[in-house]
Amino acid sequence: MTEIPRILLAFAGEPAPGLPESPASPTYWMPLDASVTTRAVDGVYDFLYWISVVFTVGVVGVGAYFVFKYRAKSRRDNEQAERTPDHSTVLEVTWSVLPLFLLIALFVWGFKGYVDLRTPPKGAMEIRATAQKWKWIFTYPGGFTDDTLHVPVDEPVRVVISSVDVLHSLFIPNFRVKMDAVPGRYTDLWFQATKTGDYPIFCTEYCGTSHSDMLSRVVVHPPGGYEAWLQEQQDKLLSMPPEELGKLLYEKQGCSTCHSVDGTPKIGPSWKGLFGKQSSFTNGSSLTVDENYIRESIVDPNAKIVQGFVPSMPTYQGKLKDAEIDGIIAYIKSLK
Ligand code: CUA
Repeated sequence: MTEIPRILLAFAGEPAPGLPESPASPTYWMPLDASVTTRAVDGVYDFLYWISVVFTVGVVGVGAYFVFKYRAKSRRDNEQAERTPDHSTVLEVTWSVLPLFLLIALFVWGFKGYVDLRTPPKGAMEIRATAQKWKWIFTYPGGFTDDTLHVPVDEPVRVVISSVDVLHSLFIPNFRVKMDAVPGRYTDLWFQATKTGDYPIFCTEYCGTSHSDMLSRVVVHPPGGYEAWLQEQQDKLLSMPPEELGKLLYEKQGCSTCHSVDGTPKIGPSWKGLFGKQSSFTNGSSLTVDENYIRESIVDPNAKIVQGFVPSMPTYQGKLKDAEIDGIIAYIKSLK
């Protein structure tokens, strides 16, 4: 049996592994409203929706009624029917001008919402989001990185987004915000969470094999909780044995997307038994895997490509500190 894609589980209302159970929404249509930014979207959405309902029911209803009312009762009736006037200026002006007002209202309302969503409040806290195949990495003020977005409640947060490889898109349905992650440039979005909790994050731009698994979460902390969490994480990292730090980074930095630790080759070679192994490369050279080779593969992944694989790893130059690279090397050594 094939595995059910995680994103389908999320839609079925089942919490996918790694995703929080979506908090129940009071409305049938929209996910729970958990940010001030929903105000720029939900009203316009409802307005558009109800206009569509009214016009669809109106047009189809009147059409059906006329079909019934003016049907020819016999062929003779039909042939002898009088020609009816085929033009009414009053009617024509009415059905052109009324919708025009509706469209102007929709434009003004929608544009105001757009401007609000594109203008982060002054003094908003900034968090960097980096997209890569197939993981989100969030960098907090101070440099701590995590694969989950943590934010304080009731404070404006601006997320500055970029991608190291292809187009991705950061989508937080509960906040009604979505923005593309584009290689080679920065984009941004902002929100101000109004309810503490744990909400899903999706990648909404098709980005390759594991696009539908490119999931994350945003954790909204109560007052004081965010600072406490960040401090605790930073302390934990400093006091961790290198091997454990490496294991943590393996999960948090996206290594696990492409490298297994059980010997199965994925997008890249498995880490199991890697250290000390004889490796052959596509450029014809070969060597025994040691500390220097692992370090080079992290900062300059395309320098040597193991035979049977294609270059697909982004560089971690500048993203990992020396102590963190040491940790990853120690972790790989431990995987005998
Ligand atoms: Cu990243 Cu889809």
